[in-house]
Amino acid sequence: MPLKKIFLILLCTSLSWSCAQEQTGTDRETEKKISRLISQMTLEEKIGQMNQISSSNMGMDQGLAEAIEKGQIGSILNEVDPARVNTYQKIAVERSRLGIPLIVGRDVIHGFKTIFPVPLGMAATFNPTVVEQGARIAAREATATGVRWTFSPMLDIARDPRWGRIAEGFGEDTYLTAVMGEAMVKGYQGTDPADPASMAACIKHFAGYSAAEGGRDYNSTFIPERLLRNVYLPPFQKAVEAGALTLMTSFNDNDGVPSTGNTFLLRNVLRDEWDFSGFVVSDWSSVTEMIAHGFAKDPGHAADLAVNAGVDMDMMSFAYITHLPELIKEGKISEKLIDEAIRNILRVKFRLGLFENPYVDENLHKDVFYAPDHLELAKQTATESVVMLKNDGTLPLDETRIKTLLVTGPMADAAHDQLGTWVFDGEEHATITPLQAIRDAYGHSIRIVYEPALSHSRDNSPAGIRKAVLAARRADAVLVFAGEESILSGEAHCLANLDLQEGQSRLIEALKAVGKPVITVIMAGRPLTIEKETTWSNAVLYSFHPGTMGGPALADLIFGLEVPSGKLPVTFPRSSGQIPLYYNHNRTGRPFLGNETLLKDIPPKAGQTSLGNTSFYLDLGADPLFPFGYGLSYSAFAYTNITLDKVSYGKDEVIGLTFDLTNTGKYTATEVAQLYICDKTGSVTRPVKELKYFERITLNPGESRTVNWTLPVSELAFRDLNMDLTVEPGQFELWVAGDSVSGDPVLFEVH
Ligand code: GLC
Repeated sequence: MPLKKIFLILLCTSLSWSCAQEQTGTDRETEKKISRLISQMTLEEKIGQMNQISSSNMGMDQGLAEAIEKGQIGSILNEVDPARVNTYQKIAVERSRLGIPLIVGRDVIHGFKTIFPVPLGMAATFNPTVVEQGARIAAREATATGVRWTFSPMLDIARDPRWGRIAEGFGEDTYLTAVMGEAMVKGYQGTDPADPASMAACIKHFAGYSAAEGGRDYNSTFIPERLLRNVYLPPFQKAVEAGALTLMTSFNDNDGVPSTGNTFLLRNVLRDEWDFSGFVVSDWSSVTEMIAHGFAKDPGHAADLAVNAGVDMDMMSFAYITHLPELIKEGKISEKLIDEAIRNILRVKFRLGLFENPYVDENLHKDVFYAPDHLELAKQTATESVVMLKNDGTLPLDETRIKTLLVTGPMADAAHDQLGTWVFDGEEHATITPLQAIRDAYGHSIRIVYEPALSHSRDNSPAGIRKAVLAARRADAVLVFAGEESILSGEAHCLANLDLQEGQSRLIEALKAVGKPVITVIMAGRPLTIEKETTWSNAVLYSFHPGTMGGPALADLIFGLEVPSGKLPVTFPRSSGQIPLYYNHNRTGRPFLGNETLLKDIPPKAGQTSLGNTSFYLDLGADPLFPFGYGLSYSAFAYTNITLDKVSYGKDEVIGLTFDLTNTGKYTATEVAQLYICDKTGSVTRPVKELKYFERITLNPGESRTVNWTLPVSELAFRDLNMDLTVEPGQFELWVAGDSVSGDPVLFEVH
């Protein structure tokens, strides 16, 4: 081969290599700083960076201080006193040998002081803009204490409402969860993670944790790779693409492999496929919990498995700090592996600007907590998160026609429980409850009678119910606030039975018997099986624990100052016996048709095959109480002229869709228009429907708007029989509607 050609090949190779390695100046500079730092670190100091310890948040912890000074701790969590954060940070920066700053973490799940609706409620807004703004506010309040890392957003797809942590995620849909997760990452990290008001996001729990068997938290999952890639992983990938700086492993074992020791997830997928450049933290003690799983023999083996799988930081199991030094000295683990983990951790600390700016202004929080614009956005989010499930015209209430209003139920004035799960720093004194809001706004013109009836959601005592019934007889309308205390949802708080706790159900039934209009408002962290209570109510509003401003939001909706626009991010089953029940299920060979003979209609001596051989329950059929995407308004909307620009598309084309949306009601209102598709035939069976886009559209009464959407055909891709991400040719159906069950399909094909 002529020399000239060899030279050209070498030149191109070296250029392409340098292009492939091309990083921005900052990145390249940062990597050099990290390399220099690593070259100076002792083995103990390296392993110290991989060690995360919780502060008691109850005062200076001398042991913690000493360990920090020795370089044995890289991160603390749960310290939110700005003075103590600075004290610990000064020890790290000014007294430890290399002065590497700590990264301080906290569970800021749906707000810090100003509490927003639980993430399931945020999902019900179908409004990523308010979710991003809310995350920005949470970051502003949390970073004012020195916290620069939150263990949020949770991106677990939840198809089982028995699982208490359904409250912490964005529901059952992959696309909705991906959109909301991206919004939260952007809100927390801002345009510049080094901004002192920004904090690192932590996408969790990787992966499949929400599919816990039986809906029992921490339990085993059995998610095959195709389902993992088609349903559970896309929100994490989207968040990595959005620049999420950290990721947390999940407690569950999937098909026998605990996530904290899962090399396929943490290296093959996260690093090799997605090019994740942040760091991976275990969940609390999940490293040594691999012993309980029966996956590790002892803490040393657990540390070995976790660090080899790709866990960079050990939250509170002490396995790394205790056992990694000997594992390295024995040659069981290469120091190169440790250097990789350190590089990931130090990269995030540099990106957060902690080396340049490690300390927090100890007075900043005094103006930031509960700032008026924070409370205003929390109210807007709560308002948009409420889903109206039923209304016979009773709502909105007309204050000129109500003389006496009974407000009752254990959630009417529950300042603590209204905040929902995972609230460490929010304070109930800041909460405005529905009772307070209604009294403030309407107490001058309406006689507000308050009878709690029950002291809390599990109270079954009849005495209070009798008093409420007597009060209802003298009232023109009844507002009953029921649901779940916050402790009934969240981590490890799973329920086998999703009925309203008994006393509340009896209360609503007794109020119904009085004969006055009954408006039921449910505050909960999950769907509840409220078919009876819905029947007994004239109207039902569902509020996934709405947070600090839930009261004013609900008051405005009840009296018509606001119009409900929320849509369900999860399917509501009629009974927990139907679970799992979700909208985007596969068709089966014998799908439920809806004309089957149910228990109450089975004739005597019915023939063996006479009831309908399809996939359903004799007692309850297979329909939910309320479907994904459902939510009513005081107005109504009509979808017409749904048209595609072509009938057949190539794989690289973009579908052009137009439709007319008309507000046929009397109120200015917002509709969440939703786009669903169905891939009729695939190399593997495909879901009956999948959400691919949505938009909140506000129209005045009688107003029509022609809406134009585009959908790249590439968005129809899925993992096929060979596990390849593919758009397969064939027939598709497309719906545009206000929920996942309405509308007629428009056909198109991909060639
Ligand atoms: C908990 C949770 C996790 C949380 C962590 C720190 O056990 O599983 O979501 O971020 O510990 O509190």
